[in-house]
Amino acid sequence: RDDYYGLEVVLSYSLFEKIDIIARSARICNKTGAPLKVTRALSASIDLPRADFDMIGLYGAHIRERQLDRTPLRHGIQSVESRRGASSHQHNPFAALVSRETTEFSGDAYGAALIYSGNFVISAEVDSFDTTRFQLGINPFDFSWKLEDGEEFVTPEAVMTYTDQGLNRMSQNFHNAFRHHLGHTRIRNKVRPIVINNWEATYFDFDEEKLFGIIDCCKGLGIDTFVLDDGWFGKRYNDVCSLGDWVVNKDKLPHGLDPIIERCEQNGMSFGLWFEPEMVSEDSDLYRAHPEWAIHKEGRPFCTGRCQLVLDLANPEVLEYLKKALSDVLANHRISYVKWDMNRHITDAYSSALPADRQPEIYHRYMLNLYALLDYLNKRFPDVAFEGCSGGGGRFDPAMLYYSPQIWTSDDTDAIERCRIQYGTSMVYPASSISAHVSASPNHQTGRLTPFETRGNVAMAGAFGYELDLTKLTDEERALVRKQVAQYHAYYDIIQNGDLYRLVSPFENDVCCAWEYVSADRSEALLTFVVTKCRVGFTTFIRLRGLDPEKRYQDVETGRIYSGDTLMNVGVNLSRYWKDSESLICHFREVTE
Ligand code: GLA
Repeated sequence: RDDYYGLEVVLSYSLFEKIDIIARSARICNKTGAPLKVTRALSASIDLPRADFDMIGLYGAHIRERQLDRTPLRHGIQSVESRRGASSHQHNPFAALVSRETTEFSGDAYGAALIYSGNFVISAEVDSFDTTRFQLGINPFDFSWKLEDGEEFVTPEAVMTYTDQGLNRMSQNFHNAFRHHLGHTRIRNKVRPIVINNWEATYFDFDEEKLFGIIDCCKGLGIDTFVLDDGWFGKRYNDVCSLGDWVVNKDKLPHGLDPIIERCEQNGMSFGLWFEPEMVSEDSDLYRAHPEWAIHKEGRPFCTGRCQLVLDLANPEVLEYLKKALSDVLANHRISYVKWDMNRHITDAYSSALPADRQPEIYHRYMLNLYALLDYLNKRFPDVAFEGCSGGGGRFDPAMLYYSPQIWTSDDTDAIERCRIQYGTSMVYPASSISAHVSASPNHQTGRLTPFETRGNVAMAGAFGYELDLTKLTDEERALVRKQVAQYHAYYDIIQNGDLYRLVSPFENDVCCAWEYVSADRSEALLTFVVTKCRVGFTTFIRLRGLDPEKRYQDVETGRIYSGDTLMNVGVNLSRYWKDSESLICHFREVTE
């Protein structure tokens, strides 16, 4: 309590003792008798009595999200942040301070993540006495909040963990926190369906017949949900128009969505639909009716991104419009899945609904109303599963996970590139949140050829699906789809609920990478090994982790039996003539007799 002003700050702590997690937020209460201007309101600040840390962050770009970055701290302030109105591809709202000698499996690691999808900052300041101040919260850049007398401002929660057992344990703590404590149980426990998404199969170029072809091809494959991506609404033949006009494009789909939904159901699937609700195209009926609903300052030039503007969710009218527009589609069709996209970030941050002294509130008000919208839809349509997305993984953060338990990880679907992207993402986020699809080869982003098996093995480290033209598959590939679907079901529990162990990092090893999941009772392990860039005839023993040294485990494929001790200390011998992009999944099961 600041007696001079009569200001109170209440710090709230939630302790999750078993998983070594502390969540903290701050509530600022204005009891001063007059309005207050809050210009900086972070969620957590920790002083550590040492300076010999490395800082680890996840930086990136579109189609190259969450790459690992590790640099020694120096005197002064170093930070990661977003000022883009979304948590961003560029930096994830996560950072860790680790000892210089910390590895995946030993050493101090202090990890922090912010449950927020907007402008954030995470900083470490080393002072001249060699103490380190670690802070995170809403980015003070271009932010202020007018707090009337009697009002409160609550910061987002910071989620923090400490371990002396290295980065892998830090990640496991985050995974446990987000799997078991973030979001409504109904949302987080929803079994992730195997989807077939038509984006990379057709892009904008589809009609009813083409979609029927893909849907019919799914018969008997075991895929759960067909997701119709961008292009089904307005006059959307390309990305220059129609965002905001959420009515079916009758030129492409003359009979609406219903025949497509019925066709899915006839083939044993449910139906999912893509939206980009937060956006408006200049060429749209919505923009023509309400130009003031787009974030920009009338009369000044403004930037478009992918020919579109961001809707001003700080404006309550926009929130109400979106509730209605989305509900109209969801209430009138049997839709079980929504892919929620957001393909550009905010510039020209000006809200026509806010007075001059509240303009710097626009970014945070946008977030609060976005969460209100997602909350409303989740409650009104409890059977719909939401998948987050933002030009791939441009808004992959714990707050979006609260509403959408899985997020499209990257528009880069190349299996080898995905090894890095998913490896980085796994620093903080569990496999159940990482949407990953088998796509075509040559890959559309990199042109790389990869075996169908490897594409499946890598996608299986996430919420699994397909994103390619199924009508072009050979019989052999269709058999592989059936096999992968069966594997995904067989491994679902261990991957989605087991403990992850990162074994060989694609950021440190330029030949191969490997990771493993171990079931809670340590009776099963699943090892994935990928040759990212072949060097002919190399010797590799992959040592497993997290097993019981006393137990005996059988490789389900080869029948060979090993002791846990051997698997962890000698490893599995994977030395052989691998080709580029080949991979392997080994399943080990405890044997008792
Ligand atoms: C973004 C998404 C893609 C796809 C396109 C559609 O790039 O990340 O998966 O939905 O938009 O325009």
